[in-house]
Amino acid sequence: MGQLGNIPSSWNTDSEAFILVSEHRPNLGPNLEADDIPVINLAPFFDVIGVEAEGENWSAIGAVVEHSKDPTLRSLVAEIGNACAEWGFFQVVDHKISPELLRKVMEAAKGFFSLPLEEKKKVGRSFERSLGYNDSELTKNARDWKEVFDWAPQGYVELPESVDSDYRSGRYSNTTLKSYNQWPAKPDGFREACETYTEAVVHLSGLLLGLISVSLGLPYDVLHHYFDKDNTIQARLNHYPHCPLADLVCGVNRHVDSGALTVLAQDSVGGLQVKRKDGQWVAVKPREDAFVVNVGAILQVWSNDKYRGVEHRVSVNERKERFSIPVFYDPSIKTDVFPLPQLLDEEHPAQYQSYNWGFFRKTRVNGNFKQLGENIQIHHYRI
Ligand code: OGA
Ligand code: NI
Repeated sequence: MGQLGNIPSSWNTDSEAFILVSEHRPNLGPNLEADDIPVINLAPFFDVIGVEAEGENWSAIGAVVEHSKDPTLRSLVAEIGNACAEWGFFQVVDHKISPELLRKVMEAAKGFFSLPLEEKKKVGRSFERSLGYNDSELTKNARDWKEVFDWAPQGYVELPESVDSDYRSGRYSNTTLKSYNQWPAKPDGFREACETYTEAVVHLSGLLLGLISVSLGLPYDVLHHYFDKDNTIQARLNHYPHCPLADLVCGVNRHVDSGALTVLAQDSVGGLQVKRKDGQWVAVKPREDAFVVNVGAILQVWSNDKYRGVEHRVSVNERKERFSIPVFYDPSIKTDVFPLPQLLDEEHPAQYQSYNWGFFRKTRVNGNFKQLGENIQIHHYRI
């Protein structure tokens, strides 16, 4: 790998496909607000729950959290609620995930993406195999200046075999297809680094989901059952090579994550931008000791718009490559998503009709490959 890292050769000839219309180009540098998303310290939470933090016994953890009178835990919950409502984004520190796990998976990512393209394509994604390597993803019909490697922590992701092409019908086949992880032969230790890392981050995501539920005034473990079996949790290594057209393209074009929650690690290069409530784009300052957490569209629906799935995008760098690793904490395909009844009353009527997550997800996946115009969005289910 050269100093700058390698750009897939096909990108040079296709460069037009990456270029965004001017209003959607990432406004680099001085135009961005200095303001930043909240940084939340999780230490008070781990102090209160102690050994419970290790296990997946969400109701036991919930009992400890709900009965605690610790004022620092109460204010931590309030901070999380505020961040979800005002920003849809926050960073967490003191999260108990060892820097060593992150270092190893970042190294694995560097090693993998610096392999020759033919080698990476051996684990390439396809219509039938939705996990693995891809260097031609589109977001809102523009090519993203990135290459990715996707895997599912539980080994596979299961989706309905087919869906009705009309998103209003919500009809999908009873038969499902499983896509299994595809692991590259090189670099050494790649699979272990990825799996060990996601085991820890999936656990952290579950802990955060509980805190978010409490911040909505609900029991800690009210949502975890959606993630038990046949969840659709996916992890991704993102590589954003350096880019000669950095002011014309995006690493990832503006989008809202469609699942419940995203927990992302990034290196120190920076590039993630978040749309603030007033419409201004704000750069997230990278912190190597932090994870970036964001609300996805499902949580927006569950919370009946109290919490917002917020638009974000990634700018790329002329001289530096960047790596990031999101874990998309998404429920089972059987999940029907609707505003939680506990949050509704006469003054707060439901803002969305129920929709099925397997249907939604499969419709999205189809769109990713076939460029069907506008992707399915939760606003299609707004009442
Ligand atoms: C994503 C995403 C942000 C980043 O992959 O959905 O928003 O900083 N990534 O890589
Ligand atoms: Ni995203």
